[in-house]
Amino acid sequence: MQKPVTKVIFPVAGLGTRFLPATKAIPKEMLPIADRPLIQYAVEEAREAGVTDFIFVTNPRNEKILQAHFADNEELEAFLAERGKTAELRAVATTVIEQSRLKFCHQDAPLGLGHAVWCAREFIKDEPFAVILPDDLIMAHPGCLKQMIDVHARIGGNIAAVEDVPRELTYRYGILDVSHDDGKLASARGLVEKPDPEKAPSTLSIIGRYVLDQSVFEHLDKMQAGAGGEIQLTDAIAASMKTVPFHGLRFEGERFDCGSMAGFVEANAAFGLRLSLHAEYLRERLSRHL
Ligand code: UTP
Repeated sequence: MQKPVTKVIFPVAGLGTRFLPATKAIPKEMLPIADRPLIQYAVEEAREAGVTDFIFVTNPRNEKILQAHFADNEELEAFLAERGKTAELRAVATTVIEQSRLKFCHQDAPLGLGHAVWCAREFIKDEPFAVILPDDLIMAHPGCLKQMIDVHARIGGNIAAVEDVPRELTYRYGILDVSHDDGKLASARGLVEKPDPEKAPSTLSIIGRYVLDQSVFEHLDKMQAGAGGEIQLTDAIAASMKTVPFHGLRFEGERFDCGSMAGFVEANAAFGLRLSLHAEYLRERLSRHL
């Protein structure tokens, strides 16, 4: 019987340099895909998976922006109510999180994803926890984290969402050294961060969703820099493997790499088409640019 996963860490302290100047004054995670910012999709996915506590690793300036997005805005709500804008009121209501369930901590310098997760260690007790990178947006039903938590309830250990990438792109990802693969769950005997294509042990890559055992902090405590001089989360997971089994879950759904401009634009088209009351019009307009 595994302990339930009730907490999620959102490491959102990166500088989002690929989106400058859009990210000069707002965090990348506040960029919208169709009608809502990336961070809201991530919160909704976590909520659907049964998560109740939301931990943001950020910086003081972005904390204010994120806090405002998830807080009540009585003035706006009163205005919408007065005008009878019920759909808009409902949309605003979906953003509100009880303040005691929101936690913030700061990463003073972008020393790597492992370091960002380590910054949230005080909020995690003796329990497994989730990590979501909001710039990996996943269209899935049920959501990707729910799929992962359901598997975790059965097998425990450390789990990451994985997908196959073209071999020439392995240098961008954490790659599994697979010992057994049933087509859905792959168990790994090792993990390599950003290997050159010719050295990659497989093409199965980790994307931005993890369910982790709290023992990963023992390895992050050592603060060892890895690929790119950054403190890598995958190195800490790999170091845990002797005692905590690691599985990659091939989730069902479609992932959009919204940390890259191409993925961001594609996600806007895909989510926009789903949402749009004028899908045919949008499709026709988009086709003019293809
Ligand atoms: P990225 O590698 O996409 O970096 O981080 P970035 O700074 O956000 O974007 P670019 O490359 O400059 O455009 C992936 C995720 O990990 C977080 C980021 O906020 C993002 O959600 N991250 C990364 C941290 O929180 N801290 C770090 O030190 C590194």
